[in-house]
Amino acid sequence: MKKIVLSLLLALLPAISHADEGPKLDHVKIDLSDRASLQRGARIFVNYCLSCHSAAYLRYNRMGHDLGISNELVKQDLLFAANKVGDRMKAVMPAADAKKWFGVAPPDLTLEARYRGPDWIYTYMRSFYRDPKSFSGWNNTVFPHVAMPFVLYGWQGEQRAVFRTKKIVSHVVENGKPVTEVSEEKIFDHFALVKPGTMTPKQYDQAIRDLTNFMAYMAEPTKLERIRVGVYVLIFLAVFLVLAILLKKEYWKDIH
Ligand code: HEC
Repeated sequence: MKKIVLSLLLALLPAISHADEGPKLDHVKIDLSDRASLQRGARIFVNYCLSCHSAAYLRYNRMGHDLGISNELVKQDLLFAANKVGDRMKAVMPAADAKKWFGVAPPDLTLEARYRGPDWIYTYMRSFYRDPKSFSGWNNTVFPHVAMPFVLYGWQGEQRAVFRTKKIVSHVVENGKPVTEVSEEKIFDHFALVKPGTMTPKQYDQAIRDLTNFMAYMAEPTKLERIRVGVYVLIFLAVFLVLAILLKKEYWKDIH
């Protein structure tokens, strides 16, 4: 028994030691039943992200159908990067050109919310800061040295990242003698808004929540369907339960 407990604890160790690695992520509430939010998110994605990134596993008309947007409206409002509503959502910029300009091709974002998780995307899109040393002039605390320029700069404005230094004291043995080494590590503390954008911080957070919500839908479009079907299944089970109880009562009536 002891052995089992011990091996279980050991199995947990990597999870515990990884717990504080990486940047702190802000939590975002995903609500796939909030159609208005999904529609706003789709508009942001198509207008500001599709120029560089594809979402090639999703078709415009599928998105329109799931989000309650008619084909006419899709054509009128969302179809900048394609000709037909049945087309897949491909980036405007050819990947080869993008690679030349940014050094890396912008990845397809269809499954991004499943790969990184919604909290990661939500925090990433709110963590760009000015860094004159970087190629694009922007850096990101969630994705250091990211090659993506901050395209929503006009909305959020310009942030400065404030770091604090942490002293790391380590004791090592050099040539048989104990030596104490002191090094410094820069740890991100908080952001300061240097130049406000057209949105207040609250409005910007809301816009990014809509965008993240849409990207969560995009990564798993059938989830909406599953939730809908699930509700019917539960209603059916509830009705069936009543019938079953009544039937049972009828059967046992003469025995009790
Ligand atoms: C001007 C081109 C461009 C635009 C527009 C753009 N991106 Fe990017 N994006 C990039 C590039 C290039 C990378 C790759 C960065 C790297 O690997 O260093 C990237 C990376 C990303 C990543 C990280 C991917 C990963 O590795 O997991 C996410 C998430 C992302 N972009 C989201 C967005 C969203 C959301 C928008 C729209 C608001 C957007 N991007 C608009 C160029 C762009």
